[in-house]
Amino acid sequence: MEAQTCSATSCGSTTTCADSQVDNGEIPALIANAPVDMLARIAETYGTPTYAYDVRRVQAQIDGLRAHLPSEIDLLYSLKANPSLGLCGVIADGGLGADVASAGELQTALKAGFAPERIFSNGPYKSPETIALMRSAPRTILSIDSVSELEKLIALGLSNRAVLRLRPDYPSTASCGIGQDSRFGIGFDELEQCREILASSDFSVVGFHVFSGSQMTDSAAVIQHLRNALDLSLRAAEVLNIEPEILNLGGGFGVPYGATDRELDLVPIGQELRNIVDRVKPTRVVIELGRYIVAQCGWYLTSVVGLQSRGGRQAAVVDGGVHHRSEICSLGMFARGLPPITLGRTNADPTPTDILGCLCLPHDVLVESTRLTGLAVGDALAFPNGGAYSLSASPLSFLSHPLPVEVLFDGATVGLIRPRQTVEALLHGQSCIRNFGRPDATNDSDTSTTQLAAE
Ligand SMILES: Cc1ncc(COP(=O)(O)O)c(C=O)c1O
Repeated sequence: MEAQTCSATSCGSTTTCADSQVDNGEIPALIANAPVDMLARIAETYGTPTYAYDVRRVQAQIDGLRAHLPSEIDLLYSLKANPSLGLCGVIADGGLGADVASAGELQTALKAGFAPERIFSNGPYKSPETIALMRSAPRTILSIDSVSELEKLIALGLSNRAVLRLRPDYPSTASCGIGQDSRFGIGFDELEQCREILASSDFSVVGFHVFSGSQMTDSAAVIQHLRNALDLSLRAAEVLNIEPEILNLGGGFGVPYGATDRELDLVPIGQELRNIVDRVKPTRVVIELGRYIVAQCGWYLTSVVGLQSRGGRQAAVVDGGVHHRSEICSLGMFARGLPPITLGRTNADPTPTDILGCLCLPHDVLVESTRLTGLAVGDALAFPNGGAYSLSASPLSFLSHPLPVEVLFDGATVGLIRPRQTVEALLHGQSCIRNFGRPDATNDSDTSTTQLAAE
């Protein structure tokens, strides 16, 4: 694997990465208002690596949405952004519904306390476990991804209400776009076939679901996607000859990751959604958001365990890495994300620094050419924007490092929601079969070997 270097291509900018982080004259609000003392106490008490989620920030995001979007909007939390049970519980308590994409996420959503009638189960594959859970929670709603899935679910006799996920027939301008060339959803030209299938069954399709991309920080782009999703859904309703009860128009609301990124302006989006709600009344309009709700609440805490140099810059090795935080790399955040905070130190006289993870992997780089004061072994670092697509979106098993701790915190209280995994726990459920295939084979666990019939 190739080491990645900080370049205009990776940053999407012609300035150097260090310039874009510090020379714009402003300290980003997330860094300026960081709960530094609390994070330092968490690192000290629970050790590192640790994910610390600021519940106040989750609440602030939800409150901001509530203040700007019409009250009729049904807001869902997309668990794929962070399915940690403790965090999901906070969001369920905040009154949101849930968007889930697997049996594990569905089970988490039910356990976290999301109301079943506000849980939407989507994704290209509903496993037998998902189907069984949906049968036991018949008020949950299915989002059907393909014509073949529609046929399969009708044949299975599920009584849950369903929406059809539609493939956008318009281009997506989102950072992580899902447009006409997407693999997800039913194409507009396949709807006639759906109509025929539905005509010969009593299966109930009550609306549509469109998701056309993630991480949009420009409100005009979000509005255009909402309009396109509505237009597509209304055209689909005509083909199916239904009055939709539910329209899930996606979302894709983004957050600022780089120092020069701006917060999404919710005011015009709220106005647009007001128009949409009024236009389709009494249809239930649904928005599903992951990143917007949790990205900024998360702080990834690591400690410096070694000092090095890389590309002529000072570099520190930490006890974490991209096995816990791969998201920053998929958006190029290692090059343009906000710098970490060195807990317990002021950032005086900073020099360009790389923070390297502890994996035997060249691209295990958490941040590159960021400006930090000379680091020492034992310093704890807090990386911002770690709440979404971090822990659960990372190659956790690579190199068999135990899972980090996860905690919730507010102004004064810390709650442990995932204790540090032990090395022994990594082996849980695995077995070693000595002399495999020989008559004297022995199995060190109670699982047994099975003789399968020869072909
Ligand atoms: C179908 C669907 N819904 C919701 C989301 C959540 O997106 P975001 O985290 O950008 O809000 C995604 C993300 O890929 C998705 O694929």
